[in-house]
Formats: sequence, structure tokens, C-alpha cells
Amino acid sequence: MILIDGKATAVAIKEEIAQEVRRIIAGGGKRPHLAAILVGHDGGSETYVANKVKACEECGFESTLIRYEDDVTEKELLDKVQELNEDDTVDGFIVQLPLPKHINEQKIVEAIDYRKDVDGFTPINVGRLAIGLPCFVSATPKGILELLRRYNIPTSGKHCVIIGRSNIVGKPMAQLMLQKIYADSTVTICHSHTENLKDICHSADILIAAIGRPAFVTADMVKPGATVIDVGTTRVPDASRKSGFRLQGDVDFDSVAPLCSHITPVPGGVGPMTISMLMQNTLLAARKNW
Ligand code: GUN
Repeated sequence: MILIDGKATAVAIKEEIAQEVRRIIAGGGKRPHLAAILVGHDGGSETYVANKVKACEECGFESTLIRYEDDVTEKELLDKVQELNEDDTVDGFIVQLPLPKHINEQKIVEAIDYRKDVDGFTPINVGRLAIGLPCFVSATPKGILELLRRYNIPTSGKHCVIIGRSNIVGKPMAQLMLQKIYADSTVTICHSHTENLKDICHSADILIAAIGRPAFVTADMVKPGATVIDVGTTRVPDASRKSGFRLQGDVDFDSVAPLCSHITPVPGGVGPMTISMLMQNTLLAARKNW
């Protein structure tokens, strides 16, 4: 069994990006610039955005953090999105989600120019992905594909089973695994209402669990020799930890790992890759070679 080290891979990718930025600067080019809009003071969002700003520093990017209080109006946010769309000094930007309930999140996302949508959340990028056009791909599925590639895990013609159908993980993951230019696999998407879930999972060469249910995937659902990718990160109470909780993936790691050819741990697997993929998307946006 090979443990897929997402943390080390993410560090290596950020170093590769930093090298590329040094090359761009040496050639007289402009530093890539990522902007982030953060609304309110939600602890999780604060941490995510702080980590994105830190990653920009590590990659040699310029970053701009734009903050609003919880009572910001939809109009103010839409105006800021429009301003960033038109600002030539900004290559890409994100609006950290979730937004307060009085804001129509979809309306804000749809206002982002797809050429600056480095989260890959706009319908234009989602549609472009679906028909195989150049696009920004949402960070988590992009990071999983990158791990499969870097660990030389065969994907062409293999059966990939994805558990979960969310817009930012399950569905784009299915597109990446399906398409010839990416993974060229045979794909099955399962969800909470799928019948014969165990049998379907057991036929997977690559099993991707993104259902948000702690330890959902058990040993009886995994074919010996399969690759198992765990996207889950649920906080479960753990009295032995100082924090009082630990992160539990969607896979029952201890029983499943001995069966696998490759498996991602939680934490330290898929999670660390997402910010590196956002950085890769920002570098892509800065190149502007659509
Ligand atoms: N909230 C949780 N994850 C994400 C993400 O990847 N992008 C944005 N914009 N908001 C998030």
C-alpha cells in the first residue's frame, strides 16, 4: 500500500510555481495577482483565506484581500466583482463562500468574468469543462487528478466510482475522470440514494469518496488493489485531542488501507492540494492564453 502524500505534493507544486514566477519576472513579465473577497468573520472562511494569501506569498504572487462586514449589500458586492472584472492588474479573483443569507450567492458567482474565475465556479467554466474546452477547473477535483498523475496511477479505461454529486467536487470530478484529454476512465457517480452502492464501489479501480459521511467507505466496499481517494473532512469529537476534535475522512482508513494499492490520508491527502491548485489556476489566468 502506498500512502499518497498530498502535503508534500502541494509543497512541491508551490515551489514549481514559484520557480515559474521567478522566470516570468526575470523575463520582464508581471507578477501574477490574485484577489479575494471575504465577507464577515466566519472562522473557517478566515482561515481558508489567510492560507490562500500565505500561499500567494510562497508562490511569489501579489495578493489583495478585500473585506466586507456581514451587512454588505448584494449591490456593493456586485459592483466590486464588476470592478475586479475590469481591473487589468488583477489576473484572477475569488469570492469566499458561503456568503450571508441575504446575498444571492449564485448571482455573485455568475457576475465573475470566467477568464478570472480561478475557482472554476461560474457556469461558463463548468460548461467549458463539460465539452472539453480550456477552462478553470475547481480546485479539489483538479488536485485529485494531479495526485493520480504524480503517483503514476493508471486511469485510462479504468472504472472510477465517485460517491457524491456536489457541484464543486463530485460533478467536476466525474468530468475530469471521464474525458479523454484528462483521465479517460469509465465513470460511475453514486450518491445517497444509489441502490447496490456496495457492489458498485467494489467494482471500482479508483474509488473517490466525497459524500461527507465520516468513515462511510468500509473494507467490504473496496476491491483489493484499488486506489482510494478520500475527500471527506468531518470534525468528530475526540477527547484525546487538545482541540476536542479530529478530522475524519469518508473512508474507514484503518480497515480499508491494507487493501489498497494507493490511498490518501485525512488530513494530509486531498486537502493540502486545493490551495496549490488555486495557485496553478491563478498562474494560468496570468498567462491569459485562452
Ligand atoms: N468555501 C469553501 N471552499 C471554497 C473554495 O474553494 N472557494 C471559495 N470561493 N469558497 C470556498
